[in-house]
Amino acid sequence: MSQLFEALKHLVMEYKIHPILVNFTAALVPVSLFSDVVGRAIGKKSLEEVGLWSLFYAACVTPLTAAAGWLFWMKDDVGVPGMAIHKWLGMALAALIPLLALWRWRFYARGRQPSRIYLAAGALILAALIYQGNSGGAQVFSGM
Ligand code: HEM
Repeated sequence: MSQLFEALKHLVMEYKIHPILVNFTAALVPVSLFSDVVGRAIGKKSLEEVGLWSLFYAACVTPLTAAAGWLFWMKDDVGVPGMAIHKWLGMALAALIPLLALWRWRFYARGRQPSRIYLAAGALILAALIYQGNSGGAQVFSGM
């Protein structure tokens, strides 16, 4: 078991899997929200479908992004307040994004447009995601 953990950690560290996966989460969530907002505003169904499916992919990849973050944890991250926030906010996002996708799916299944409350919740999650990316980048590029 611990050999498997060590092998996974080596893979994640060697190939920088966390910094690679964060790009998918960071791109797919805003693409989804923007497509839903514009699709709703101009009544374009194909854009709303982009909103649905891009969030579905984000929901699949984000738990992997968070798991790779744990395996990417380094000694100099310990005790850094910004990284403690990064760690737990990342875990929250790994749960919230799939929940948001489930909510989004319910609108699709009922043939409805995503509601304003849904879009507002999505905007809050996006704001948290921007903060998350900023805190990770700050640790990598300048230390916090
Ligand atoms: C949605 C979830 C997450 C996102 C979007 C995210 C985003 C990021 C970003 C953008 C970076 C900078 C990467 C770079 O430019 O090289 C980063 C670094 C990092 N993240 Fe995350 N992260 C997430 C979750 C997590 C979790 C759950 C953990 C750990 C428990 C974690 C641990 C780390 C570590 C250790 C670094 C590198 C810090 C260093 O170089 O010392 N991340 N993250």
